[in-house]
Amino acid sequence: MSEVSATAPGKIILFGEHAVVHGQPAIAVPVRSVWSRAVVRPGRAGGGAVIIAANLARTIVVRPDVQSGDHPLAEAARILCRYLGRPLPDVYVLLHSTIPVASGLGSGAAATTALMRALCLAIGVSLDDATLNSLVYEVEKLYHGTPSGIDNTVIVYNRPVYFRRDEGMQTFAIGAPLHIVIADTGIASPTHQAVGDVRQLYEAEPSRLGLLFERIGEIVRLARQAIANGDVIALGSLMRENHALLRDLTVSCPELDMLAAVAEEAGARGAKLSGAGRGGNLIALIEPECAGAVTEALLRAGARRVICEVLS
Ligand code: PMV
Repeated sequence: MSEVSATAPGKIILFGEHAVVHGQPAIAVPVRSVWSRAVVRPGRAGGGAVIIAANLARTIVVRPDVQSGDHPLAEAARILCRYLGRPLPDVYVLLHSTIPVASGLGSGAAATTALMRALCLAIGVSLDDATLNSLVYEVEKLYHGTPSGIDNTVIVYNRPVYFRRDEGMQTFAIGAPLHIVIADTGIASPTHQAVGDVRQLYEAEPSRLGLLFERIGEIVRLARQAIANGDVIALGSLMRENHALLRDLTVSCPELDMLAAVAEEAGARGAKLSGAGRGGNLIALIEPECAGAVTEALLRAGARRVICEVLS
């Protein structure tokens, strides 16, 4: 076996996070300026799969005779080989990622996707996207408990998706290029915690939360239309409303609210948190000529890093 490698992009949720866990649709797009990459090389005979996760500063040894249970990446290798009916290969896997961890950019799903794709190449089998997606979803459950499946779907298919939990994904048209700015609060926020808290709130107040989820679902449908029409003004105001509803779901935080206000003051059409919230990333929709002003304002206000992405 010679050296093989595979790459998977990051992702961002444009509309519908949290409500998507409760059956509403959501829209997500790949973010290709950040990525996770797995390079597989031949390993020591009998040594199993040795995953060197550079960003996590961790080496994970996966062997058939050792019950892993320690890291989702080890389980990813096992789930794949179990599905393929193949023994774990003796390989070194160098995993490198530019996607910040626990910040709503899909770092876990991208690492799993890159790992599984590269292992398939090393073993000499090919998997269709639908099968790979269902395997990556199994690993997502280890990271997040009850994930909707939107992260793995947008990352495996590497294209914009309109996603509904029980219906899977549809692709959709982007009428005119959309310019977004993604600002990292620098606050790591575990998805399972925020998702669990929203679930508890839903159990305590089902009718109020049910209405919030329904309105978010409506926003997602309107946003899909506005994206198809290239209507940036409508999209901006839908973003603002979606952010306010996420605040009602208790998943915003002072830093996200402040960065949203800063982006809008600097000329963004609208801004909202993206992903699990309580930290992680803010996204702002801009006209291209505002990119510099919005980026500078966000960095001045304390954003750790800012990514400009054009969606088309
Ligand atoms: O922050 P992320 O990338 O883990 O996204 C979470 C999105 C949620 O809707 C909050 C959860 C989910 O599984 O869809």
